[in-house]
Amino acid sequence: MSFRHTGLILALAASAWGQGELWTPKAGPKPQLNGPAVYGARPGHPFLYRIPCTGQRPMSFSAKGMPAGWKLDAATGIISGTVPDKTGPVEIVFEARNSAGKDRRNFRLEVGDQLSLTPQMGWNHWYTHYERVTDKTIRNAADAMVASGMADYGYYYVSIDDCWMVKPGSTDLELGGPARDSAGRILMNKRFPDMKALTDFIHAKGLKAGTYTSPGPKTCAGFEGAYQHEEMDARTFAEWGFDLLKYDWCSYRNVDKDTSDAARQKPYKMMGDLLKKQPRDIVMNLCQYGMNNVSSWGAAVGGQSWRTTGDLGLEKDTRLPGFYSIAFKNMVLDKYAGPGAWNDPDYILIGWYGDPRTTYVPQKAKFTAHEQYSYMSLWSLMASPLFFSGDMEKLDEFTLNVLCNREIIAINQDPLGKQARVVRKTENELVLAKPLAGGGLAVGLFNLSDAAAPVEATFADLGLAGSVAVRDAWRYKDLGKAQSKLRAELAARSVAVYRITGR
Ligand code: GLA
Repeated sequence: MSFRHTGLILALAASAWGQGELWTPKAGPKPQLNGPAVYGARPGHPFLYRIPCTGQRPMSFSAKGMPAGWKLDAATGIISGTVPDKTGPVEIVFEARNSAGKDRRNFRLEVGDQLSLTPQMGWNHWYTHYERVTDKTIRNAADAMVASGMADYGYYYVSIDDCWMVKPGSTDLELGGPARDSAGRILMNKRFPDMKALTDFIHAKGLKAGTYTSPGPKTCAGFEGAYQHEEMDARTFAEWGFDLLKYDWCSYRNVDKDTSDAARQKPYKMMGDLLKKQPRDIVMNLCQYGMNNVSSWGAAVGGQSWRTTGDLGLEKDTRLPGFYSIAFKNMVLDKYAGPGAWNDPDYILIGWYGDPRTTYVPQKAKFTAHEQYSYMSLWSLMASPLFFSGDMEKLDEFTLNVLCNREIIAINQDPLGKQARVVRKTENELVLAKPLAGGGLAVGLFNLSDAAAPVEATFADLGLAGSVAVRDAWRYKDLGKAQSKLRAELAARSVAVYRITGR
């Protein structure tokens, strides 16, 4: 007997986004807790966490098993405190209540050296604001992350990319000027009056702040980099209150032409070691486009994630939009991914974003609804960091529907930390399978062709046997039992993501 997907007739009608069917069911009024089940933090460091939860406000949060001295704001669910000194797990149970009901969720704090036990989630300014970024655009993004509900699904990094520093030699009054003070300390450009005040603003919402620099003398956009100031810059980022650093190769290529693994690792190892010495947890995202098989050593030099490819926004569209070819390169690196070590295929470019191949001015994404659901499915199954880089001030219902599906995100954030393996890849089909904690399996069936078609995977291909329970993760729907194969009738470039249990 084969299993057949039935809800696809409607899906065929959804082509131009915004008019298409919304796959993710709306969150109800009852509290539903989201967020990772495991979370790594270093002993004695500051702890900050906003409990992600959908449902009607006002809501009241509580927690059992929190370390001594932690404070939980009952109305917002924001926890702050200090990570205990003793390494090992701390089992905490979160609870949220409102007039419609309550929900509980386990949260294991792993006190130790590892950070990012599940892929990072957040937003990065690059593809919307480019060099135009200001303190205000970052604050607006933080506001929107909470107001839009994204934070209730677990998005929490608000990351500044390139262009917050001074651009040496620029005649622009806001961007030019001295890049460092007399002590060598890096300065912001005039669009960023006070970095500490900015991270305070982000942290007050229970969110985290990301920043960016290059190991070279200049960043990719020609701004001041960290070369020969690494120690001071790492300290400054910690003092300013940053929680993540994207470290982007760029002009370092002019500093050291040696292409050996050791030479390519050197600047990252240096920054990784420096970040570890800071009195706060700072995650390092390596950005060097996949050189020297970075996936095989990114964790060893202190990174929690590493870009595996060139810029997604610059990737050529072929028959398929560029995000597919980026995914095809990233998906074969599955063996390197694990808790605290993630392959990063770059950001999620949907909604409104600026195309760096043309004008850099935000425009509505040109993909179909099916392609956008496929994009999010690929990133979730590949256990990729989930960073949206579209315009936070133009979030529409459809874009939020793609970004904010609790079951799709749960597959991405699954505590086992496995990246999906490629079960089958042909010109017209892709099947991915991601093992989940507790013995489950998430399966993605992708139709890559230009026409509607069925996509199947046999139990033999998937390593399944007997009869298993199948749930449509996008639609939160149990579909019954399947034997021998999974099958979905899919619109052109559409996807089905099934969560399998009972295997
Ligand atoms: C490189 C990176 C991008 C972005 C820009 C900023 O191209 O790959 O992600 O950070 O630099 O200049």
